[in-house]
Amino acid sequence: MDANFPQETPSVSRRQFLNFLTGTTLAATAGTVVYSGAKIFIPKAEGGLGGAIIAKDRLGNVIPARQILAEPTGTRALVAGLAGEPTYLTLLENNTLDSVGIVNNCTHLGCTFPWNEIDQQFQCPCHGSRYSVDGAVVRGPANRPLKLVHVAVQSEVILISPWTEIDPRTNEVPWWV
Ligand code: FES
Repeated sequence: MDANFPQETPSVSRRQFLNFLTGTTLAATAGTVVYSGAKIFIPKAEGGLGGAIIAKDRLGNVIPARQILAEPTGTRALVAGLAGEPTYLTLLENNTLDSVGIVNNCTHLGCTFPWNEIDQQFQCPCHGSRYSVDGAVVRGPANRPLKLVHVAVQSEVILISPWTEIDPRTNEVPWWV
């Protein structure tokens, strides 16, 4: 366990942190790319750009954008996002990233979950909740969609910022705002 990680993510509870580690293992076995070990020096963006932060790996290292953009179309790359929340980024065609990221935190009781490539769903191993590609609930017990974030590539890094607008899946103010 990286002793530095909890210090960088003070809002993540111990249970969520443990779930994060477990979830990344599950994600890796389900064909999701989990980044670690990237080392690059880039000035921190935290606190600026409308609350945007730079995507990092689970060890707290900045992930070069080119590293993720080189992945095949359809890949769900798991990175540490806002407040260290594990967040899925989706690779689109032409080596671009979906501008919407999905936070890997089940809205039932907070477990992390893998992406199931065959079913094209996020499937929570704790109590069986399932979510569609956009994070909408397909099957409970979860009854709220997954939290969204904005994703943008700027220079050599990936920026993640809070989603505070209307939730396109419910056409309502997001439950997390
Ligand atoms: Fe995911 Fe219960 S925590 S279904």
